[in-house]
Amino acid sequence: MDRPTVYIETYGCQMNVSDSELMLGALASAGYEHVEKPDGADVILVNTCAIRDHAEQRVVGRLGELKRHMKRDSIMGVTGCMAQRLGPQLLDKAKHVSLVIGPDGYRALPALVDGARRGERAIATTFDLEEHYEDFSPRRFDKVKAWIPVQRGCDYRCTYCIVPTTRGSERSRRLDDVVRETRTVVAEGMSEVVLLGQTVNSYNDGTHDFADLLRAVGDVPGVRRVRFTSPHPNDFTDRVIGAMADVGAVCEHVHLPMQSGSSRVLKRMLRRYSREGYMECVERIRAAIPGVSLTTDIIVGFPGETDEEFEETLSAVREVGFADAYTFIFSPRDGTPATRLPAEWTVPESVAGERLQSLVETVRGIARRSNLGLLGTRHEVLVERQARRGDAMLMTRTRDFKTVLVPGDASMLGRYLTVELTGTTGSTFTGSVVHERQPLPMAGHDAAHEAAVASLVTR
Ligand code: 5AD
Ligand code: SF4
Repeated sequence: MDRPTVYIETYGCQMNVSDSELMLGALASAGYEHVEKPDGADVILVNTCAIRDHAEQRVVGRLGELKRHMKRDSIMGVTGCMAQRLGPQLLDKAKHVSLVIGPDGYRALPALVDGARRGERAIATTFDLEEHYEDFSPRRFDKVKAWIPVQRGCDYRCTYCIVPTTRGSERSRRLDDVVRETRTVVAEGMSEVVLLGQTVNSYNDGTHDFADLLRAVGDVPGVRRVRFTSPHPNDFTDRVIGAMADVGAVCEHVHLPMQSGSSRVLKRMLRRYSREGYMECVERIRAAIPGVSLTTDIIVGFPGETDEEFEETLSAVREVGFADAYTFIFSPRDGTPATRLPAEWTVPESVAGERLQSLVETVRGIARRSNLGLLGTRHEVLVERQARRGDAMLMTRTRDFKTVLVPGDASMLGRYLTVELTGTTGSTFTGSVVHERQPLPMAGHDAAHEAAVASLVTR
């Protein structure tokens, strides 16, 4: 008999992508075949995000659409943050959904899916502070870079944020387990790893901190690029910054969520740093890592945000000169402390919309000016994927996270090239290949040796 099939759709952050990879791994071990289209799949999973109302509304719409792709005996499961947040309400509202599983419940997935295929409906939303899915073999979507979760949950309590509710308290994987997974992905042919955690640089497994982790992962032979997301400014200790500077594989890019440039707003958000504190963090990172590029997350329209406070965000964006920013309008999430701020502090939608617009323009203007200045320069890029299907263009990235489109075909995926930047849209680049970097030996050489070889190849 044919193997049963599973289709999965993922919303939200990289942690969710990584969780989807774990779920697919668990189901593959249980005999399921992964399919790329929902039509007629035996199992349809939607791995959801709860960060903003808009994210949830998209999922609600999508659940309705996906219903049309179900056979009579298909089952649908909702997993992830929205599943955790809404639990039984989801089963009540969407009768075609039979499983609701939160981020700590994926161990039971194969059994729950079997049950659902026999007609049962189930909810699994209990937190498990020990759960890191160590014995799972993730089925990775990406063949070039590996998402590696190093920490789950979050112990900060930013007043706008639903994540502590949906993902529970912070816990770190053991350093040895992260290194083991890194070795596995290198053996599978990947040379870039992205360490994931809600406040990833607060990583601590009881014995090792994030500095130890960066050094250990960066030392794994064959690892050429290490990234991490998302750090919290307060967890950039001198040890962590020192490790970032020392470890050759750690890329010169930090995604450093700022949220606001106003100390008063930051206080209401309970971010635990001021504007000055954030700027100091930026300076320490820049002093240690020459040429580092910074990107950020910013929320506008947080309750009580005045015009002046918003102007402080604009001026902070100019002062730092972010390479890019993800910008959001504040979205009240049920149960978070921000919903208990005085109702008259609510920023009208139209005002928040205008602020977002002007923030986006400011960010774009800064990026465009800086990117124009980079035309003609040469960079090492990693070929991540084909730009579009059927297109003879490749999407590549520099170490400092700039996107460069270069001509080429699928055979070049995963390779390192030296490119010259020839054009820019303002945000992304086009480039021409100057030469291909020789593949480095995969095993038996340490990072210092690799760096030495790489520098020879550049010249
Ligand atoms: N409203 C708007 N944006 C939010 N974010 C988190 N919670 C909210 C919310 N309630 C943003 C933050 C965070 C990013 C992942 O999403 O900027 O860094
Ligand atoms: Fe969305 Fe946050 Fe959950 Fe990621 S952790 S899926 S961003 S709510």
